[in-house]
Amino acid sequence: MTATMTAAAPVNAAPTRNAKLAAWVHDMAAVCKPDRVVWTDGSQAEYDALCESMVQSGTFIRLNPAKRPNSYLARSHPSDVARVEERTYVCSAVKHDAGPTNNWAPPAEMRAKMRSLFDGCMRGRTMYIIPFSMGPIGSPIAKIGVQITDSPYVVVNMRIMTRIGTRVLEALGDTAPFIPCMHSVGAPLAPGQKDVAWPCEPDIAKKYIVHFPDTYEIWSYGSGYGGNALLGKKCLALRIASVMARDEGWLAEHMLIMGLQAPDGEKTYIAAAFPSACGKTNLAMLVPPESYKGWKVTTVGDDIAWIKKNPTDGKLYAINPEAGFFGVAPGTNAKTNPNAMASIAKDSIFTNVGLTDDGDVWWEGMTPTPPAHLIDWKGESWTPDCGRPAAHGNARFTAPAHQCPCIDAQWENPAGVPIAAFVFGGRMSKDMPLVFQAFNWSHGVYLASTMGSEATAAAIGQAAMRRDPMAMLPFCGYNMADYFTHWLNIGRRVANPPRIFRVNWFRKNADGKFIWPGFGDNMRVLKWIVDRVHGRGFAVESPLGWMPRYEDIDWKGIDFPAATFHDLMSVGREAGAAEARSHEELFDRFLDRLPKEFIFERELFRSRLWRSPDRWELAQE
Ligand code: OXD
Ligand code: MN
Repeated sequence: MTATMTAAAPVNAAPTRNAKLAAWVHDMAAVCKPDRVVWTDGSQAEYDALCESMVQSGTFIRLNPAKRPNSYLARSHPSDVARVEERTYVCSAVKHDAGPTNNWAPPAEMRAKMRSLFDGCMRGRTMYIIPFSMGPIGSPIAKIGVQITDSPYVVVNMRIMTRIGTRVLEALGDTAPFIPCMHSVGAPLAPGQKDVAWPCEPDIAKKYIVHFPDTYEIWSYGSGYGGNALLGKKCLALRIASVMARDEGWLAEHMLIMGLQAPDGEKTYIAAAFPSACGKTNLAMLVPPESYKGWKVTTVGDDIAWIKKNPTDGKLYAINPEAGFFGVAPGTNAKTNPNAMASIAKDSIFTNVGLTDDGDVWWEGMTPTPPAHLIDWKGESWTPDCGRPAAHGNARFTAPAHQCPCIDAQWENPAGVPIAAFVFGGRMSKDMPLVFQAFNWSHGVYLASTMGSEATAAAIGQAAMRRDPMAMLPFCGYNMADYFTHWLNIGRRVANPPRIFRVNWFRKNADGKFIWPGFGDNMRVLKWIVDRVHGRGFAVESPLGWMPRYEDIDWKGIDFPAATFHDLMSVGREAGAAEARSHEELFDRFLDRLPKEFIFERELFRSRLWRSPDRWELAQE
């Protein structure tokens, strides 16, 4: 840790030869006016010291070392518990370049706003400089960012989620570019003012998550939580990276990456996109059913994939730009995800979960029987009958990826892993089959772009569907119509493009119960996908795409009736037609920028629906 007082912080005090970086830090210190500037080195000693200082200040509670070694619990301010999409901006020079799905403001106006908000925002605090690499340091796919923050909580989380410190400064050298990421919790301290455990700007309307895509810059103000504050994740690795990927000819996607190894050793990597809270971490760490002896599932990443054409074989390869998991805790348990439970056994940070009386963590669904008593995420005494949840619904764990028992041997390979299939899935309780395959690349891009997912509107108890193209709706840093075109172009430029599939684990029966058992049994669907990719799986043509018949799925080990499979797979013609009509509503938002291919794909879909009723039925006979 290298510390300097701001008043005497000459540029050459910075431990970097990169003059642009040193000058930027100097300028930002002058704007933010912190008491101290600290360059983080990324060492264990620095991490331990920061955690200890947060224990002293009340931000962290050290968990019982006998139960959860070297692990901590933080409780956020109740106003600061999730990403704030409504306060997230993409400020391109031209409004249409941000597109209809992003909040926009003129960049000059937003810059002026940021300058005034950040003026003096770190008074009484320490300004930390975090050089970080998204992706293995030195990988041709990796990018370097530098986050400036006044939150020690952010520093220690960034150390788990990315690769930080001196080794990154070395990789940056004298002149390499970096993505500047400004962050403040927005809570300056007056002289003598006592700090609180979770400083932030409590008024949501005063939080800002701002991206300047033309200059690859991020400014985040007012929140200390998750994707709002750990700027390597959604802000850099998705919003800014998606713009860089457009400019440089690659893909930055909201996708897990997993390896599927067959008993004969054949290894297939797939990347899969699901909207937030659809169980990506659980799928990425899937444990195959007992009956799938010899199959091995490995995890490369659980949230983000950076995918680039390999110059040698012309195929798409993916890296996980992150180094840790920032997973949703509630619902995670030894059955839904034993690998995640093992990953968080030590060296982890928990935010907004319950604290048990013996100094460990607990959340809804962690064990079948709740503890008789604990302290809830708000710091209040809790019993199972008190009517309040112990953990916040978006409570998180931050855990190092290398602690995951099923981490893939290639997860840090700088060249990435070859991707054989892209899988897209939303949460749909009806009218969307368990699995089907696109006819070709542009049909697949169409299927991915029209993906929908239901969010339960608790107030009215109904499921409202929102279109979430490629699960990138909150994360695409430019006009999504241009993003669809970019996807179409990528498929034309690579050798043997990955095959594209849609899945839906969430279909419900008339009683409102999930039809598909899920979790490990998803392996049955993945095996069909692997078979298709390698040209040996059977399928029939349907209006939606290539579909497996009952006998094309390997059912060994469970008794799953053919009639239930039919319920999972079939879609009525009226429902299909309504789906096609609502694609039109989505497309209307993008006006003239929508790729022409999509108009034809929609018409082909409609024609197949109306003209091939026999096949439609035949598909599942
Ligand atoms: C996440 C999200 O936290 O998608 O990964 O919201
Ligand atoms: Mn995510």
